[in-house]
Amino acid sequence: MSDAVVFESVSKSFGPRSVLKDVSFTVAAGTAFVLLGRSGTGKSVTLKLIDGLLKADSGEITVDGTKITALNSAALAPTRKKMGFLFQSAALFDSISVGENVAFPLRRNTQKKDSEIRDIVKGILEKVGLGKEFDSMPSEMSGGMRKRAGLARALAMEPSILLVDEPSAGLDPITSTEIDELLIAIKTDHHATLIIVTHNMPSARRLADQMGFLDDGKLLAHGTVQEMEQSEHQLVRDFMKSKQGG
Ligand SMILES: Nc1ncnc2c1ncn2[C@@H]1O[C@H](COP(=O)(O)OP(=O)(O)OP(=O)(O)O)[C@@H](O)[C@H]1O
Ligand SMILES: [Mg+2]
Repeated sequence: MSDAVVFESVSKSFGPRSVLKDVSFTVAAGTAFVLLGRSGTGKSVTLKLIDGLLKADSGEITVDGTKITALNSAALAPTRKKMGFLFQSAALFDSISVGENVAFPLRRNTQKKDSEIRDIVKGILEKVGLGKEFDSMPSEMSGGMRKRAGLARALAMEPSILLVDEPSAGLDPITSTEIDELLIAIKTDHHATLIIVTHNMPSARRLADQMGFLDDGKLLAHGTVQEMEQSEHQLVRDFMKSKQGG
């Protein structure tokens, strides 16, 4: 199996604040990797490093066989097109319709005709359960619908790697389970690699093939759900016992 994402001794600081220190992990293509850790431990930063929105200070990040650490934004563009990003806040454009939000990456990155883009967008909205919402405005939608719309936009370019930051934040348990089922379907049907940050343990357990636990700038533990439950670190075991969602 090939590797979708590899971190080798990656470090990242903001001014004096060291967020990641020598972090290494590998995510096999077509699997789901769930990143856990307390608030402020660098989980969102890790996703942004993978997507090239942030640059590592040292170490090497490889995405789908391409070493991205030293690339400028033009050289990075083909690799970025393979990735979809569902941000922690869904990050929709509030002044354009849901359909146009999903169409946005297709208009920017492809030469496809308007009618073709409309058909693709309709198909994706259908898939995430927003088939009737093409013309709705994001501001009129509930949190769960906004998440689905953000997911639809992240899927527009048929990414082989999907980066998902807190898919269940602010959602009720049923909606959160539905989003998880969509993510699992994307992995199974499209052989996509998922890298998911979540605080929601029931969701993490549903999604993860492998987990990683960030603490104090280090990847404190990684492994399967079962391995994490038996971690030598009390903090990891306690985290795994949590029943809390959200
Ligand atoms: N662009 C930035 N500039 C300066 N500091 C940043 C930047 N992005 C993140 N940080 C800092 O890096 C640390 C890790 O942030 P990050 O957003 O990755 O945390 P997190 O693990 O995702 O937390 P949460 O679970 O609350 O979302 C924080 O101290 C944050 O303030
Ligand atoms: Mg975060």
